[in-house]
Formats: sequence, structure tokens, C-alpha cells
Amino acid sequence: IHIIHVTAEMAPIAKVGGLGDVVTGLARACLVHGHTVDVFLPFYECINKQRIKELTLISTYGSYHDGSWIPTNVYRGVVFGIPVVFIEPTNHFFKGQSVYGGSYDELEAYLFFSRACLEWLQVSATQPDIIHVHEWQTAGLPLLYWDMYQYLSLQKPRIVLTIHNLEHYGECRQEQLNKCGLDGSAYATEEKAMDDRTIGHNPERLSLLKGGIVYSNAVVTVSPTYLKETLYSGWLAATLIRHRDKYFGILNGIDTAIWNPATDAFLPAKFDANQIEGKKICKLYVQRGLGLVPEEQDSAKVPLVVCITRLVAQKGLHLITNAIRHVEALNGQMIILGTAPDARVGSEFEGLAQLHNEGSSIRILQMYSEELSHMLYAAADIVLVPSIYEPCGLSQMIGMRYGAVPLVRKTGGLADTVFDMDDQSHSEIANGFVFEGIDEGSLNCTLDRAFSFYREKPNEWRDTVKKVLQMDNSWNNAAGKYIDVYNNVRVEHH
Ligand code: ADP
Ligand code: GLC
Repeated sequence: IHIIHVTAEMAPIAKVGGLGDVVTGLARACLVHGHTVDVFLPFYECINKQRIKELTLISTYGSYHDGSWIPTNVYRGVVFGIPVVFIEPTNHFFKGQSVYGGSYDELEAYLFFSRACLEWLQVSATQPDIIHVHEWQTAGLPLLYWDMYQYLSLQKPRIVLTIHNLEHYGECRQEQLNKCGLDGSAYATEEKAMDDRTIGHNPERLSLLKGGIVYSNAVVTVSPTYLKETLYSGWLAATLIRHRDKYFGILNGIDTAIWNPATDAFLPAKFDANQIEGKKICKLYVQRGLGLVPEEQDSAKVPLVVCITRLVAQKGLHLITNAIRHVEALNGQMIILGTAPDARVGSEFEGLAQLHNEGSSIRILQMYSEELSHMLYAAADIVLVPSIYEPCGLSQMIGMRYGAVPLVRKTGGLADTVFDMDDQSHSEIANGFVFEGIDEGSLNCTLDRAFSFYREKPNEWRDTVKKVLQMDNSWNNAAGKYIDVYNNVRVEHH
């Protein structure tokens, strides 16, 4: 199968969160299974070009936006063995210091990108079997395809949409659709509303994601539990229920070559389930490096909790700040690595950093660092993920891959990957600590349980570390499920 991912993120060159990891991990797994894969990505100004192999300008063509044709450069390159096509419009789109948040209209820029990708397929006479779009940013592509390109292509590609987070639904106005050449009013009329073709709450608040759900051949979300949650709540539930027969929940994997404590070049010592001594060295290295020198000089007695996350409401901000207080009260240590897109949240955490970063137990690091993230997962005894909702969540899986025991809130993909140690009904799969409430008490007593377990049952803790180190959360399984979806949509529509 020839699959083209059209995406706003790709790890590690343009990654903000899990979306970037998923595109890279899934693309690599499909390549390994013998399929042909390309990734189409905006050529963000902030991309570090040194990380792209064989980068070559292959063409410049005109791509439509708002009544004119913008000269657009197309580059090819290779990232982690994956062929990538970079689309670079010569206007202000995708310029700036970061992947998101530049001074341009993101909705218009991603609609432009979606159309430019279709145009490039046309210009280069490329015939993929599957166009795989992700999130609201590229969910406009199926609309554009059915409206303008289906008659032009020689052979029809099938379109698969993956929803990574339903909260971001790409709200847009008719006028923004007009700018990429669609007839915005056509998507907002009553008649179309009746046949499910309207894509918004009201004629001026349309949603690209809803359009993507209606117009794609298959829709996937990133865990079975999140799939159920999306059918019960949120304004898109009714749409998803109507399209239930083409809607699937496939749990993400992690790229076990990128995330591998036995070979990881970022770590001061390597380890795996048979040789876990290296993990202690990583913990000491991080503790010393950050000035968290354990009082007893026996770092093994001080549980280290790590939380690596975007600092946004979804991630349970009040629970994270509460954990800082409670871990300190329990004489543990905690390190937070995160970035806050919202300045107010950023300054709240900055305040906490000033309060704690000189002390001996808490470090709050507001930055994005891939290198540090690898070291912290390797150093952690516990990886904390107290999300309010979590479509899948990769950090609990990455944590486990590095021998950190997960402590999570029971929601979405966290509920599909972490099973409580104290729940006798499933002791064979028990691998961490789970709480349900969104109140601080629920988290506190779960931290209490985890800390007692760590301090009072060192042998069992060690067994748990070995158990999580041996778990298989790789893409092997999940890629097979995606390939089934690709094959099904190809067969169904021929
Ligand atoms: P989300 O996609 O909602 O942000 P996930 O758990 O799916 O959450 O994926 C988050 C990914 O981003 C993980 O690979 C995590 O390690 C990484 N990450 C988050 N914040 C940072 C940061 N400040 N520095 C480095 N990596 C980070
Ligand atoms: C989103 C979700 C996260 C998921 C990631 C990758 O960012 O918030 O739960 O793991 O996408 O699918």
C-alpha cells in the first residue's frame, strides 16, 4: 500500500506533542511492514534543517490561496529513514520561532497546506492508495478532495482521518473556506444540514474536524476507551454515532527504536529488564545534575516522580501543582518538564519554580528538551500523568519503556494501558497506580500508596520495574490494525 501522511507535526523535527511521535512511529512501522510511506509536512521556518538528510529542492509551483497562486517550493528529504515532502509557501505562512503560534491565521495556513498537498499530488502525478490526515489541521483535505480533486485524479485515493484530540475541532468561518477555494456557504445550508453535510454549530461556526469525519472513508481515534468517551460526550458525539460503522479506536504505540534504554545515546548508562543497574546510575546522574542530592545519600530511598507534559488544562494542572506539595510532604522528589502555551499558566509555574528550585526536592523546568526528556524518563521511579482527559497518552508508555512505574488518572488511553497494583481482579496485568477522581484527595492517597509500596516492598517494586520494562507498547500491533483499516477502505470502495 502507498500511504501519504498529511500532518502538522512530525517527530523529532516538528514535534509539539504526541501527534508528532505517532506520525513518525506509525510511518516507520508501516515501512518495516513493506509498505510505501511519505510524510507531507509544512516547511516551518523553525525546523532545524541539519536534522533532515538528503534535503533537496525539487520543484516550485503555484498553489491557490485567496484568489491568487502562491509560488510554493517543494523539497524532499529523509527523517529517521522516512521520505518527507516539505511544502514551503513563499508568503508568511509557517514562519516564526515555533511550530504553532506564528503571526498568521493558522486555519487559513493549514487549509492552504491541505490544498497545496493535493495540488502537488496532481502536479507530480503521484497516486497514493491512502491519504492519512491527522487532527483539525489537515481534516479540511477530505472536503477539498471531494469538492475539487476527485474527478481529476486517475485513481481514487481513500482518506483516513485520525483524531488525536477532539477538543480542537478547527472552528472556521465560511470566508476562511472560501479562501482555499471551497464554497463556504455550501457547507452551511439547511439542506446540507439534513444530509449531514453541514459542518458546524451554526452557519458561521463551521468545524473542519466535523467535515473530516463526514468526508473521510475511515476515522480512527487513538484508544478504545477514548472512542467510547467521544460517543457519550461533546458536540461531535452525534456525528460520530452516525458514522459509527467507519469509526475505530486503535491504541497508539511508541517507537521502540527511538525510545530504547538499552541503546539510548542521551543516557549516562544503558539498561534493560535483565540489567537494571544502569537505571540507578541515570537516577543519580539526574539528581546530581539538578542539585537534588538525596539526604540519606542512598538515592534508592527517595522516590523520584517525573511529569513531562504540555502545561495545559487537559493535563490536570491543579493536580500537578498539588502533586508538588504532596511529594514534598512525603519527602520524595519531583521533576516537571513542560511548556505552557498560555502565559498565565507559564507565570504560575514560574512562581512555583522560584519557590522550589533552590530546595532539595522539587525542580520545575519550563522548556522543551528532547534530550532531558529521555534522561528524566530513565531516572524516574514514577511517571505521573494526572490528565483530566487523555485520548491516548504516550508519556505513560514511554515511562514504562524506561522502567518508570506509571501513576495515572483513569481516563482515555491511560485506562487502556495502566492497571492498578492493588486491584486483585487483574493482578497479571497490574503495572502501576490508578485514581479516578479529579480532586486532590484521590491523587494524594494514590501517591501515598505508591510511596509506601516503593519504601516498604523494595523487591516487589523491583519486580514491577522489570515488568514494565518488558511490556510491549511498540507499534507492531497497532500498525497491523491501521493496515487492516487501510485495506478495508480500499476494498470497500472499489
Ligand atoms: P500530548 O500529545 O497531549 O502532548 P502525549 O503523552 O501523547 O501528550 O505526548 C507527549 C509527548 O511530548 C511525549 O513524547 C512527551 O515526552 C513529549 N513532551 C511533552 N512536553 C515535553 C517537553 N517539555 N520537553 C520534551 N518533550 C516533551
Ligand atoms: C494528542 C492527545 C494525546 C495522544 C496524542 C497522540 O495530543 O492529547 O493523548 O497521545 O495526541 O495521539
